[in-house]
Amino acid sequence: MRILGIETSCDETAVAIVEDCKKLLTNVVASSAEIHRKYGGIVPEVAARKQVESIIPVLTEAMTGYTKDDIDAIAVTVGPGLIGSLLVGVETAKTLAFAWNKPIIPVNHVLAHIYAVFLEQKNNLQLTTDNLQPIKFPAIALVVSGGHTELYLMNSPTQLRWLGGTLDDAAGECFDKTARLLGLPYPGGPAIAAAAAKLTTYNRQLTTKLPRPMIDDDSLNFSFSGLKTAVLREWKKHQELKNRHSGEEPKATTPESAKNGSWTSQDDSLVSTFAFEIQEAITDVLIAKTFRVATEHKVKSIIVTGGVAANKRLSQKFSSQFAVRSSQLSLYVPPPKFCVDSASYIAAYAHYHNKPVDWRSIEAKPDLSVEI
Ligand code: KG4
Ligand code: ZN
Repeated sequence: MRILGIETSCDETAVAIVEDCKKLLTNVVASSAEIHRKYGGIVPEVAARKQVESIIPVLTEAMTGYTKDDIDAIAVTVGPGLIGSLLVGVETAKTLAFAWNKPIIPVNHVLAHIYAVFLEQKNNLQLTTDNLQPIKFPAIALVVSGGHTELYLMNSPTQLRWLGGTLDDAAGECFDKTARLLGLPYPGGPAIAAAAAKLTTYNRQLTTKLPRPMIDDDSLNFSFSGLKTAVLREWKKHQELKNRHSGEEPKATTPESAKNGSWTSQDDSLVSTFAFEIQEAITDVLIAKTFRVATEHKVKSIIVTGGVAANKRLSQKFSSQFAVRSSQLSLYVPPPKFCVDSASYIAAYAHYHNKPVDWRSIEAKPDLSVEI
């Protein structure tokens, strides 16, 4: 079965064709991140306008070499996401379903992230001896993206149960907001990872250890807003200290100072130290909670997906935890290009959740629940 996936929930315009959940025939992604970079975050109207411009060229490119007769169904992200952005994908999918007379399958973007692990499995990071062995169930799936940090129990590719998630800021949001504070460019996750990697000799310069919010909490929920506030407080302390020494007025670090991907920080080493500490705090929480729930549910695998799963330090730490615990568990992390947004896993999800609806009834749902 060949499914054409369409994804426009945030700032990407993406179309992919996936065969039998595994084989990626085409995968085209256009992003407007460069434009948002100068604002330090996504401007929804700008993203939607760009998606209106991009959808036909992206669709045309993805369909190169294929005709409507090669497509069995259309899958489209209906939510959660930005309303203007979602509408572009949903209206396009409805038009195609009507014109081509194909079934249309609504997709929840957050749940769909998990299905990236079913794509081209040989590319997954796995701690199993057989690199091609199928995913063992039950599994715990952690979805860490810009707006979500969610844990699911997965008994099979079609059976998912939500266990806990974001109470306020998501992990990706915490990366993005703290990066902005440090004057690093958008998106903040890769920028923090790059700045942290520049820290050659570790010399703790922070006055206090950053908190690991809810790390010992019995619930399976997450909260990263306290960490963001702690970073802000600590950053201000350093700025005041610095200004006292130099006798200068405080200099604001703004997204503008980070234009074109290079920031002009007053102190690169301090920024790197902050970046390192932020990355450690976020990844510590994600790992501790995921392992706790994996143990509780006696699962066979852990799946980590979503944009933040592209973070190398996170997968490194997950891997070393597996080694330390000499675990019987298998770890699955998609390669970075399948962690961040694309339509590949939108189509993959639809393969397992093949519930077509009448094209007239499908609609964008910006607040679609992720608790199933
Ligand atoms: O899944 P995604 O592409 O979009 C959403 O569904 O939100 O995730 C985007 C998030 C952003 O917050 C971005 O900063 C974060 O993923 N991200 C990373 C990395 N690459 C992307 N966070 C940490 N390290 C990375 N390498
Ligand atoms: Zn996403």
